[in-house]
Amino acid sequence: MVNNTAAWIDSPYAELSVRPSPYPHAAAGQLVIRVEAVAVNPLDAIIQSNGRFMYGWLKYPAVMGEDVAGEIVDVGPGVERFAAGDRVFAYALGLEKGRDHISEGGFQQYVVVEESMTAPIPGTASASDAAVLPLALSTAAAGLFEQNQLALDFATLDGSRTRNEVVVIWGGATSVGMNAVQLARAAGYRVIATASPSNHTLLRTLGAEEVFDYRDPGVIAAVCAAAGGSRVAGIFAIAVGSADPCITIAAKTGATRVALASPPVSFYDQPRNGRLSAQRISLFRQLIWKNATLHVRCAFRRIRARYVWGSSIATSAVGPAIWAGYLPSAVAEGRHAFAPAPRVIGEGLDLIQSAVDALRDGVSAEKLVVTLPQTD
Ligand SMILES: NC(=O)c1ccc[n+]([C@@H]2O[C@H](COP(=O)([O-])OP(=O)(O)OC[C@H]3O[C@@H](n4cnc5c(N)ncnc54)[C@H](OP(=O)(O)O)[C@@H]3O)[C@@H](O)[C@H]2O)c1
Repeated sequence: MVNNTAAWIDSPYAELSVRPSPYPHAAAGQLVIRVEAVAVNPLDAIIQSNGRFMYGWLKYPAVMGEDVAGEIVDVGPGVERFAAGDRVFAYALGLEKGRDHISEGGFQQYVVVEESMTAPIPGTASASDAAVLPLALSTAAAGLFEQNQLALDFATLDGSRTRNEVVVIWGGATSVGMNAVQLARAAGYRVIATASPSNHTLLRTLGAEEVFDYRDPGVIAAVCAAAGGSRVAGIFAIAVGSADPCITIAAKTGATRVALASPPVSFYDQPRNGRLSAQRISLFRQLIWKNATLHVRCAFRRIRARYVWGSSIATSAVGPAIWAGYLPSAVAEGRHAFAPAPRVIGEGLDLIQSAVDALRDGVSAEKLVVTLPQTD
């Protein structure tokens, strides 16, 4: 009998609480991973800050956490690509509708994941390196390649093709953005990104051709000029507040598709209780107003802007193309970097709450990671 422990969220808005959890069972096509490192995502902070206003289908108590890396200890029937003992990283889908909100949550020692959303950790990388990728990479892939998003061509993802077409990535230094830059380059597109000046060199290293400061008043003109005569195949608006400038760029360049990773207002800073406070009412009013004006602008300009859902690739052709087709060789050969770099907060499930709180305080081009002790 193997003991398992999780960092639970027992009720909406609650602090994470560390206590035993059931040892998970690998059904067909699933794996059990003994987790060595987890990363935290804005999603974890947003769910904790907004209770049933977000992910209303979530039943409490639940285990959050999407990004895991560690060693496979059990495989379910039909698993072909992996065996016990393999070191892997994976997207834990537990927060999604219809999933098991306990055994598939990443903030625990043993988690069950889908084989189709798992890739091997190459020999040179640590579990902390690998834990930075899963949700950010999946969201980047969803925004770039899903048919109802930018629908870019991912027939080749090895950088061998070059196209005279541009992808604009607004928020290139976000975790999603750094992966979007790399995926768009691998698919052969010219990439123009925005980020703070301190991150420009890093984004060029990852494949961006031009990078501009999103705070610069001339940034929209600079992005349009850099696109030059190339067709703008798509625009990815990643950070909160990115939609407006991205719609303007689409209107100026003739781009017809914008993928939206974030709502137009921030859900980070809400008081952690269920009251319909003045602050929350104001937030929802802004959300409705900004969404409405966004859609009017898009309709007027014949621009298609859609919200991205990172987990959508788990049930579409994009998931296998990325997780099985692209990632294993791309990370092993160093063509896809584990980015952003991990900042390890410390060891132990009890530090995950601190990591979520630190994420709320803000990060720049880094992913907050917690390692878990390995007891045998
Ligand atoms: N829809 C989905 O399925 C999905 C999935 C994952 C994430 N998201 C959302 O996508 C966003 C990014 O998530 P993440 O985990 O990638 O974030 P993150 O790594 O925490 O993002 C931090 C970065 O945001 C950048 N940033 C902040 N404000 C910006 C602005 N106005 N314009 C451009 N960049 C800005 C900063 O860049 P500089 O340091 O260069 O200033 C910073 O490095 C979040 O809002 C998150 O909730 C959505």
